[in-house]
Amino acid sequence: MAQNGAHIIVVGNEKGGSGKSTTALHLAVYLLHQGHRVATIDVDSRQQTLTRYVRNRRTTIDTTGRQVPMPKHVHLPTAWGDSIRENKRTERDIFAKAITSLRDEVDLVVIDTPGFDGNLARLAHGLADTLVTPVNDSMIDLDVLARIDPLSGEPIETSPYSRNVQRARADRLASTGSGTDWVLVRNRISNLGSRNASQVQDTIDRIAARLGCRVADGIAERVIFRSLFPIGMTVFDPLEADLLGGAPSMSHVNARQEYRSLVAALNLPNRTAQTDTAAPMLLSA
Ligand SMILES: Nc1ncnc2c1ncn2[C@@H]1O[C@H](COP(=O)(O)OP(=O)(O)OP(=O)(O)O)[C@@H](O)[C@H]1O
Ligand SMILES: [Mg+2]
Repeated sequence: MAQNGAHIIVVGNEKGGSGKSTTALHLAVYLLHQGHRVATIDVDSRQQTLTRYVRNRRTTIDTTGRQVPMPKHVHLPTAWGDSIRENKRTERDIFAKAITSLRDEVDLVVIDTPGFDGNLARLAHGLADTLVTPVNDSMIDLDVLARIDPLSGEPIETSPYSRNVQRARADRLASTGSGTDWVLVRNRISNLGSRNASQVQDTIDRIAARLGCRVADGIAERVIFRSLFPIGMTVFDPLEADLLGGAPSMSHVNARQEYRSLVAALNLPNRTAQTDTAAPMLLSA
């Protein structure tokens, strides 16, 4: 639990395109629907996907008049001065300021990080009460966590990202006495059961044991996610056919269930009365 009041969830993985921004907004919106006060912070100043996702949400609200909950959103820019040391200090200060101002305003903060190493990403990882790492469902994507012996399937060496996380966890434990609950989540799991799928599951379990983290049930590959970003919506929002360009399907319902299971697996502290205002989904026949 965070010392400062708000529980901080960081979504991180140095592998690009693993589903961090999609996961960050889905976690935030689901927690809002549950009645929590939630802030989102985007430290991916190059792509700003989460910031654009939240802006698209605001535009949809303004143009359609629909009532969906909004997180309090903050974008933290990279400092671009001449001095690296000065830039690091500036970034640390603006990060601390943002967290201080949110600490009493919200119950949870969800931070989206970029798919590369950097000072803001490291600062974010050092703040994580919970670190969620989405991993695409392929052996190549596991390489960002650990190098795997091709014959035995055993992790033989932790990768740079995992080492950064371990360092951030150790520093945080030493300075605050709080640990980071690190949770790996398989993302874009193929609906067709395959040899690759069971190999990935087996390997990810071994990596988790080696890194001292947990593995949550994953999120399947679903076409729906492609149509959600432009309208700033999530599977938890009311999704009428006109907005979506097609009727919601059973796949949406299943996607909701997967994210609900993920949040349950995160064992977040209970902050407010648990409700779930996600609208019932009207399926096509
Ligand atoms: N479960 C899923 N099923 C299908 N597509 C998905 C799923 N999750 C994410 N995607 C798609 O994968 C792409 C990458 O997702 P996203 O932008 O969330 O990844 P990211 O890790 O934030 O990327 P980056 O490292 O570039 O910031 C997007 O097109 C998104 O719509
Ligand atoms: Mg992203």
